[in-house]
Amino acid sequence: MQTNPTESILLRTLKGESTERPPVWFMRQAGRVLPSYLEIKKQYTFWQMMQNPEVAAQVTLLPVEDLGVDAAILFSDILVVPYAMGMGLDFTDAGPTFDEPLAFRENPINGLFDDPTKLDYIYAVIDEINRTKPAHIPLIGFCGAPLTVLLFMLQGLGRKGDFPDAIRFIYENRETTKQLIDALTDMSIEYIKGQIKHGIDVFQLFDTHAGLLPFDVYNELFLPPVRKIAQVVRDAGLPFIFFPKGIGTGIAKLTPEEADFLSVDWQTSLTNARKLVHPEIGLQGNVDPRLLFAPQEEIEKELKKYLRFGAENQNWIFNLGHGFMPGIPFENARFLADWAKNADWKRS
Ligand code: CP3
Repeated sequence: MQTNPTESILLRTLKGESTERPPVWFMRQAGRVLPSYLEIKKQYTFWQMMQNPEVAAQVTLLPVEDLGVDAAILFSDILVVPYAMGMGLDFTDAGPTFDEPLAFRENPINGLFDDPTKLDYIYAVIDEINRTKPAHIPLIGFCGAPLTVLLFMLQGLGRKGDFPDAIRFIYENRETTKQLIDALTDMSIEYIKGQIKHGIDVFQLFDTHAGLLPFDVYNELFLPPVRKIAQVVRDAGLPFIFFPKGIGTGIAKLTPEEADFLSVDWQTSLTNARKLVHPEIGLQGNVDPRLLFAPQEEIEKELKKYLRFGAENQNWIFNLGHGFMPGIPFENARFLADWAKNADWKRS
């Protein structure tokens, strides 16, 4: 925790306090849309940026300056965990690529190891962020949920749409899948404990591909480790945000054990999500990032639909329904942040 975390509008909302407006941050706010980021990116590879504490800290804080968001999210990636478990990883133009994806190995468990010190370079980044960030800006730590990370580990190439070989593997190798989930969950928990020790203020678990399995299978295999992870974060006194993208009405089945706040994708309106989701769980989201390709008048017209929700709901964080997409004009991202911060939310 930082020197003055109580002044943060995000932390106040996460604690259940009333605020004059919803707090604002965006998934993928550091990469993709900021001209300042795209400029820095010309000089380094993604790995170099992530492994250089000064550069990674600088990039983490760019959106605070350039977009005026209320929180910073650690500049790293969800795939650093399997990398630390010994899987060769490259970030290519075609997306992240693993050497020898697990679904094609004779023995997928052998060769994976559990050495949390392999993630120390990220703790150095967190230390540097905490040394340089404004006190009222909380730092969001994150990792990928077991399903999303395992799909990449099994399939190998991250932009192969719907991970067909990985999903087949899960159905055909249930016991091995469970062992892999356990190994990945243990490593993720060590990683999260490290992030907490080095001073993150909030934690978000990204399950971007949660919708790729039928909800019953997801519930049986992948929600138990989510509860385990949530417990670790809560035991440390930090708020836990969960983003299970694409589970549709499955959001109605989640309990406060899985989320303090639920990050809602754009497929469900926030009003409907509020009716479906357990009343003790706060919401985050869910502006459709594709809207940001539209002219600003059109964007504003759509955003006005959030005013009523924001007036009636204090336990809500303004965000996207998924990350910014590459190519979204920076001015539109900035317009979105400005609008959210300056709209007349009619909160007393
Ligand atoms: O604002 C930020 O960008 C914060 C840091 C961040 C990155 N990845 C940096 C990154 C975060 C929070 C992530 C999460 C992540 N990574 C997710 C979950 C959220 C989501 O967007 O769905 C997933 C599924 C990944 C896996 C991943 N990493 C993919 C599919 C890719 C390629 C495409 C892309 O740009 O997302 C990456 C590489 C990656 N992660 C880059 C960055 C800045 C691009 C690296 C490059 O340009 O070489």
